[in-house]
Amino acid sequence: MTDLKNILITGCSSGIGLDAAKTLNKRGYRVFASVRQEKDVAQLKSAGLESLVLDLSCQTSIEQGLNYVLDKTGNKLDFLFNNGAFGQPGAIEDMPTEILRQQFETNVFGWHHLTRLVVKVMRQQGFGRIVQNSSVLGFVCMPYRGAYNASKYAIEGLTDTLRLELADTPIKVSLLEPGPITSNFRKTSTVKFKQHIQWQQSVHKHQYELQLERLQKKGAANRFTLEPEAVTRCLIHALESENPKVRYKITFPTRLFSFLKRILTSRSLDRLLQKG
Ligand SMILES: NC(=O)c1ccc[n+]([C@@H]2O[C@H](COP(=O)([O-])OP(=O)(O)OC[C@H]3O[C@@H](n4cnc5c(N)ncnc54)[C@H](OP(=O)(O)O)[C@@H]3O)[C@@H](O)[C@H]2O)c1
Repeated sequence: MTDLKNILITGCSSGIGLDAAKTLNKRGYRVFASVRQEKDVAQLKSAGLESLVLDLSCQTSIEQGLNYVLDKTGNKLDFLFNNGAFGQPGAIEDMPTEILRQQFETNVFGWHHLTRLVVKVMRQQGFGRIVQNSSVLGFVCMPYRGAYNASKYAIEGLTDTLRLELADTPIKVSLLEPGPITSNFRKTSTVKFKQHIQWQQSVHKHQYELQLERLQKKGAANRFTLEPEAVTRCLIHALESENPKVRYKITFPTRLFSFLKRILTSRSLDRLLQKG
């Protein structure tokens, strides 16, 4: 890259956000690697990154985080990578509404609040790109992932709408749709599951036990799992290409389910997805 472009990335303590921050930093971007918890700021700074706290579940924290960045850049932000999120597993009937609300607070409302503020800045400067880290679960559903599915479907809906509304501006918006990627995601999901779902009293108890067993045996990986670099490569295309794609389908399962969704009836697709 010729001139130094700045980017704000959310959720950089691990996984995809961390890889994106390090890679873009090496590539010459000015990266603002934001994290939910203060304790991670020092760690990122020691890795040579500019870091700040931005908790997506708190509007004040979002505003303070963005203001910090804008102060440093003279009110400019070239790119935003909305990435920070978590998965709250559990059957719909076992999911307290307050827990579903918490899932949306971070994965949807936090992204929306930050994006609104950033769009204002990008309109003023006459340039900008926003990349949303969605998921294969943003267009197909799996049992026991209802809260997370709903949050990613919401992101897909909001993003598709935003793209239409920004069509006559120089601001471009892309969606990344990863399938399984190595990260802390499953570990955090398991903690959230045990914390918030009364699974031992559930009619789904047996299914939960099987799933917990599977997670313990195999950890995060299956043979289709890719490393975070696979996502960062698509992020770079979305940031640098003259014609960024609307959607980046990352991993084989994403491409497969995208194809199956087009050719199968809803019932046939359900039969496949029920297997989890
Ligand atoms: N891994 C996959 O298989 C996969 C597949 C498709 C899509 N994705 C998407 O990829 C993105 C990154 O996930 P990952 O796989 O890299 O998982 P990860 O390693 O668990 O990283 C998630 C990041 O989001 C942060 N986060 C959680 N709640 C937040 C909040 N309230 N405010 C700000 N940051 C918050 C986490 O911070 P803490 O460490 O402080 O909790 C962490 O830095 C997510 O949007 C996820 O939905 C992941």
